[in-house]
Amino acid sequence: MRIEHTTVGIVGAGPAGLMLSHLLALAGIASVAVDARTRSEIENTHRAGILEHDSVRLLVDSGVSDRVLREGHEHRGIRLRFDGADHRIDFQRLAGASTWLYPQTAVFADLADARARDGGDVRFDGRDTAVDRLTGDEPVLRFTDADGIEAELRCDYLVGADGSRGLCRAQVPAEHRTQYFREYPFAWFGFLAAAPVSAPELIYARSEHGFALVSQRTETVQRMYFQCDPGARVEDWSDERIWEEMRRRLAGGDGFELRAGPILEKTVLPFRSFVQEPLRYGRMLLAGDAAHTVPPTGAKGLNLALADVRVLAEILERAVRQRDPGPLDDYTPRALARVWKAQHFSYWMTTMLHRDERGDGFDERRRLGELAGIVASEAGARYLAEGYTGWPAAVPV
Ligand code: PHB
Repeated sequence: MRIEHTTVGIVGAGPAGLMLSHLLALAGIASVAVDARTRSEIENTHRAGILEHDSVRLLVDSGVSDRVLREGHEHRGIRLRFDGADHRIDFQRLAGASTWLYPQTAVFADLADARARDGGDVRFDGRDTAVDRLTGDEPVLRFTDADGIEAELRCDYLVGADGSRGLCRAQVPAEHRTQYFREYPFAWFGFLAAAPVSAPELIYARSEHGFALVSQRTETVQRMYFQCDPGARVEDWSDERIWEEMRRRLAGGDGFELRAGPILEKTVLPFRSFVQEPLRYGRMLLAGDAAHTVPPTGAKGLNLALADVRVLAEILERAVRQRDPGPLDDYTPRALARVWKAQHFSYWMTTMLHRDERGDGFDERRRLGELAGIVASEAGARYLAEGYTGWPAAVPV
């Protein structure tokens, strides 16, 4: 077994792990990020595509990407569609901010390129990962690297950025953590289509047939979703059936026309809200989906992960400089302040816009009343705009 040393061992080299490794490098702190997947596996997993204002700023200011400004699309609002008509939420007017349409896969590729350019130590395709000695002074990360060599990485600190199905969060003994869950009685059917853009901004639609979301990728490729049963199977949905369902949910008297084309990829996305607290156990810290999951309505997942690692990089820098893990105590309260706001926002957008088969006519009518209240009220619309574009980063304590 090969023994190695680093300051921060990072389990997971998705956007959270790579951004952390990048921010630490800017502060002169060594790290090694290990991921069980290959770079191309991560790059080809489609995820959400909306970046908050602060996420874009982090990418640009830390020198990861100006591609987001060149190739991303600034969105100054969204459309809420219900009762067959669009209602615009104007982010600029209400919150003085925009979001950027820039897919998570592009964020990942920019980060992986930046790490490679700067000589960052990232090990993709590392199997049999395990973590150990979390409460000691030198936690370890063991794995078998891409060449089949077993390695033990000894660290000052370990970060679990290994996603919602990763191993790190399960290493916290049950008596030292609390897990909060919410399951939903629906999922999203997501697809990529070779079609022209249907509308200048994203459309979040509620209809009696269920939710639909019209998002975008490029001039010629679009990303869309519709609410489906969690047990839905991709093979039961032909292209024609998908377009028919989308049209049914987007129908209205305003002449809106969805522009269709061949479907390139189809997936069913499960829905779940989850938080594990605290985010620290000994010298291990959890970040991103490893610590919390949100349903995709509102696209908060990646933005939350980036906000976590921004706080974490600063706290780790203090701990490393002081040669004392004391500053780690600040991580959980600072990160959770944003996490629970985003949990509420994602839950609220989800329940307001989806149809719950278990509910009755009262719930249906009540949710339409809620939407009508939001779009008619300056305060209601501003609340949505502030949440969607992201709250300002937590102030250091
Ligand atoms: C996407 O473009 O993939 C997307 C956009 C907004 C969401 C979720 C996903 O709320």
